[in-house]
Amino acid sequence: MKVDFTLNGKPVAWDGPPITRLAAALRADLGQTGTKVGCDAGDCGACTVLLDSRQVCACLVAMGQVAGRTVETVEGLGDGNGTLAVLQTSFLAHGAAQCGICTPGMLMAARELLGKTARPTRGEVEDALGGVLCRCTGYGKIVDAVMEATASLPAAPPAGAAVGTRLARVDGVAKLLGREKFGADGIPGDALWIRVVRSPYARARFTLGDLEPLRRRLAAVLTAADVPSNGYGIYPDIKDQPVLADGQVRYPGEAVVALVGERDAVLAIRDEEVPITWAPEPPVTGLDAAMAADAPLVQADRPRNLLLEGGVRRGNAGEAFATCAAVAEGVFETAFVEHAYIEPEAGWAERVGDRIEVHVSTQTPYMDRDEVAIVMRLRPEAVRIVPTACGGGFGGKLDLSVQPLVAVAAWKLLRPVALVYTRPESMAASTKRHPARITAKFGCDAEGALVACEVTASFDTGAYASWGPTVANRVPVHAMGPYRVANVRTWGDAWFTNAPPSGAFRGFGVPQAAIAHEAMMDELADKLGIDRLEFRHRNALRVGDTTATGQTLSHSAGLAQCLDALRPHWRKAQDEVAAFNAAGGAKRRGPKRRGVGVGCMWYGIGNTSMSNPSHMRVGLSPAGTLTLYSGAVDIGQGSNTIMTQIAADALGLPAAQFELVSGDTDLTADAGKTSASRQTFVSGMAAERAGRDLRQQILRLANAGPDAALSLAGARLTVRDGGEVRVIELSTAGPLMGEGTFDPPTTPLDADGQGIPYATYAFAAQIAVVEVDIELGTVKVLRMVAAHDVGKAINPTLVEGQIEGGIAQGLGLALMEEYLPGRTENLHDYLIPTVGDVPEIECILIEDREPLGPSGAKGVGEPGLVPTAPAILGAVHHATGVRARRVPLLPHRLREAIVAAGKGP
Ligand code: FES
Ligand code: FES
Repeated sequence: MKVDFTLNGKPVAWDGPPITRLAAALRADLGQTGTKVGCDAGDCGACTVLLDSRQVCACLVAMGQVAGRTVETVEGLGDGNGTLAVLQTSFLAHGAAQCGICTPGMLMAARELLGKTARPTRGEVEDALGGVLCRCTGYGKIVDAVMEATASLPAAPPAGAAVGTRLARVDGVAKLLGREKFGADGIPGDALWIRVVRSPYARARFTLGDLEPLRRRLAAVLTAADVPSNGYGIYPDIKDQPVLADGQVRYPGEAVVALVGERDAVLAIRDEEVPITWAPEPPVTGLDAAMAADAPLVQADRPRNLLLEGGVRRGNAGEAFATCAAVAEGVFETAFVEHAYIEPEAGWAERVGDRIEVHVSTQTPYMDRDEVAIVMRLRPEAVRIVPTACGGGFGGKLDLSVQPLVAVAAWKLLRPVALVYTRPESMAASTKRHPARITAKFGCDAEGALVACEVTASFDTGAYASWGPTVANRVPVHAMGPYRVANVRTWGDAWFTNAPPSGAFRGFGVPQAAIAHEAMMDELADKLGIDRLEFRHRNALRVGDTTATGQTLSHSAGLAQCLDALRPHWRKAQDEVAAFNAAGGAKRRGPKRRGVGVGCMWYGIGNTSMSNPSHMRVGLSPAGTLTLYSGAVDIGQGSNTIMTQIAADALGLPAAQFELVSGDTDLTADAGKTSASRQTFVSGMAAERAGRDLRQQILRLANAGPDAALSLAGARLTVRDGGEVRVIELSTAGPLMGEGTFDPPTTPLDADGQGIPYATYAFAAQIAVVEVDIELGTVKVLRMVAAHDVGKAINPTLVEGQIEGGIAQGLGLALMEEYLPGRTENLHDYLIPTVGDVPEIECILIEDREPLGPSGAKGVGEPGLVPTAPAILGAVHHATGVRARRVPLLPHRLREAIVAAGKGP
């Protein structure tokens, strides 16, 4: 059917089946990939466009409905030549785009509103954006950008003054124009496609029947036998996850067969047409089943279903409890949590001679390179990873997803091969936050000084190891919280079950542990009648204190400063809550009760007791092009901008003069993975050293002193040293390259967990104000105030963005998000916070300088999330008297607890 319509002001004649979705037609047929597809089901809003000036989900509109109408997409917002419209500029100025995958949808939703109302209220903006999900920002900066639409960007900082400024994201313009290429956006037109047939069972044996009829219809049907080395995993000695299952499956959604062919052909084949004979077996579900003496083994060579265990021991906690004036105990359980990045896993591969190139949305290009090489039985140098833009990661794109299958297929078929996960596939097959059971006991003296703690944290690590060892190692180090405790015994263990692999998710288990230790702080404070914030302040780790692993903190331990900064907000919130709860008595406030809570955290930056290096380069070409070669992948958090700011100041040239080459393993050095909040601290220091190295080379060439000022114009580099001016003609000086490496100093932990696991720690405290409906069990978070010791805020806008986004995810962890394998594999059964769920957030940045970090900076990616759930749950307890023992604290759970405790009607 021919469909004539107007697209961004121009007539278009489209031809195809009328049921084709507008999103698919825009992307596949009309080359307009600015419109994103996050779910293809009307849930996420990433595909929002305007149809006759009203926002619609383009994934739900059939082309037959578009005839004769006007469609506006993000590509039509600017002038078409790359100049941003005011709204787009405002997004850039406010830091409203992080990964940018939701940005086109947000812009179009806002565009409809601004077309009707030039100066909308906050409520109107929230209503207008309510159908578009963002997993990165926490929404606040997006709402501000719409309300305060501005055509001006922050002033570009001069040479030497980039660090500490609110420099607009260096990679932001492409995100706002819809030109950024995410994993599904740049797939070659001649690429074959893969559809993966996945297990419907949590645990089963299977046999494959005759695949020849399918093979005749397609380019290939791949099974385990086609994978050269059919095992991968994060750790060099644990390659336990098959690319394609070989005779047995261990979780629902596990990949079994890959169908490769023309896109329409593979998508037309139903699972039932693939001859697989299943023999289901009873699955091992949950920690108790995994630990049972007679439990079947999830992996035959893993006795007791135990992946790993270990802990920290200092002093004698058992004896010390007997001396305590107050003791608190509790058991806390958390659920699987889905990353729910708005961009599902996507990428493609192409064989280039004897090498394979993989273009993929990833957090860790070098680790991907090595893993793909192992699977392919190639040398690492024969694999090139070219990261696409990453539409959110949060830890979930640290594991392989599409990489091995597209690589195997492209190598075999000598054609580009692509794989784009559907939303249900992404949710079924990807890793999750580890469900945890945490048993905690804390004791203090009569003055409220902590004396002893015992914590045992057990994690459901799912079917394969993934990052399970990292979680089980990191948690015992953090489980006592950011406090001075002389007698500590903490323990972590991880257990295999027939569930999706639990992997890395913003915090590596520390957010789960924080729920337990912060509840214990509240209970001890209440028992002694000490204010909950003051109790934490009294016990906060400070410079000079020794941690439970025996590490003396010699600098940058700013928790007490964070709590000091929060104190006035805490008092005000206490007064307001008390006034509300008392106001007019029960009649006026009805079933609503308000409460205020506080949560604290510390977080070791980088890998636990492991080498953790980053290498960066800054080059100056004979033509005068200044380039930062950064292997640190920006997954939305802003490392492209942060690295540029740091390198620019170290070199002494303006950040605006930098070009960026990011992530490509052929063009950049290994900067390690984007995880563990490490890029600012580790890669930032490497970038600083690379900038300084290049500066030294320039100063030597110019025979100039250390304080000389540089300026670059074309291929002329001018060096002003006192009264002297020297000009370096770069065309004759040849290419210059500065290099920098940093590996934070740590030591291994001994059998008692003693050592230096991290070179530095971030600290934070957050306050939550909530309103609980005690009849319904619902919780509305009204306000958050977050104080974070970040060492130095290299870019305050980006730091705030990390904190606000972390708080939104922490709110989801506390109140909303529970992934149930096989049941919540879409974004209408699995709910993440919308713009209406995230409250006003105030960020307070504490800069307790870390001398090891670049300009004193540490990291903030994960810390933003960690204290949020404890603060919210503490506030719920304050409002209701009910302590959450199981999260998420869904309304029915809270209501049951309120009734059981006799605290409500
Ligand atoms: S892709 Fe259309 S709503 Fe998610
Ligand atoms: S910026 Fe909104 S999903 Fe990443």
